Amino acid sequence: MAKQIWKPGNMIYPLPAVLVSAADKSGWDNILTVAWTGTVCTNPPMVYISVRPERYSYQMIRESGEFVINLTTEKLAWATDFCGVKSGKDVDKWEKCRLTRGKPARISAPVIEECPVNIECSVRQVMELGSHHMFLADVQAVQVDEGLMDEKGRFCLEKAKPIVYSHGDYFGIGSWKGKFGYSVKRS
Ligand SMILES: Cc1cc2nc3c(=O)[nH]c(=O)nc-3n(C[C@H](O)[C@H](O)[C@H](O)COP(=O)(O)O)c2cc1C
Repeated sequence: MAKQIWKPGNMIYPLPAVLVSAADKSGWDNILTVAWTGTVCTNPPMVYISVRPERYSYQMIRESGEFVINLTTEKLAWATDFCGVKSGKDVDKWEKCRLTRGKPARISAPVIEECPVNIECSVRQVMELGSHHMFLADVQAVQVDEGLMDEKGRFCLEKAKPIVYSHGDYFGIGSWKGKFGYSVKRS
């Protein structure tokens, strides 16, 4: 396999493009799209998002110490892009994208009703890394769409048709290829 050598850059793709909802202490809220996100610890459950300080949402998260990671779907692809190219200082993204504020279980920031999974987070640490500041956070509650449970009680996220972001483009997740551990399972 012939390889090109590129300068250092961000090339971990695909990854999720999530909708992050946040509110300031007065309850003024907003949504932004974030791709620099991930899980960092299973127990305690911890996640991160990295946000540029110039984003309108940044101050809300910094001030309140809370945010919600809302997973996105094919139906929400347009909203995911829109919330990532328009700023809440110019436009009401809830209204433009026809998104609904839902009740959080443990924090104050609203969840997005239309998203199948809402991960309510509280900031533990802010790391001012450079272009982006990383919010390292504890998961306080997770809300999942009941309609995605099958008769055996399995949560079928694939039924929601999640999307991924890969080097500038959005894609669906494609077809099933195997189950965790299938490579070592005796048939
Ligand atoms: C697919 C995608 C991923 C993005 N990921 C990030 C990110 O990880 N961190 C960030 O600060 N901005 C990211 N952005 C840009 C912000 O979402 C964008 O600047 C947005 O308009 C900020 O909204 P706000 O000013 O209302 O907070 C992303 C945009 C898109 C379209």
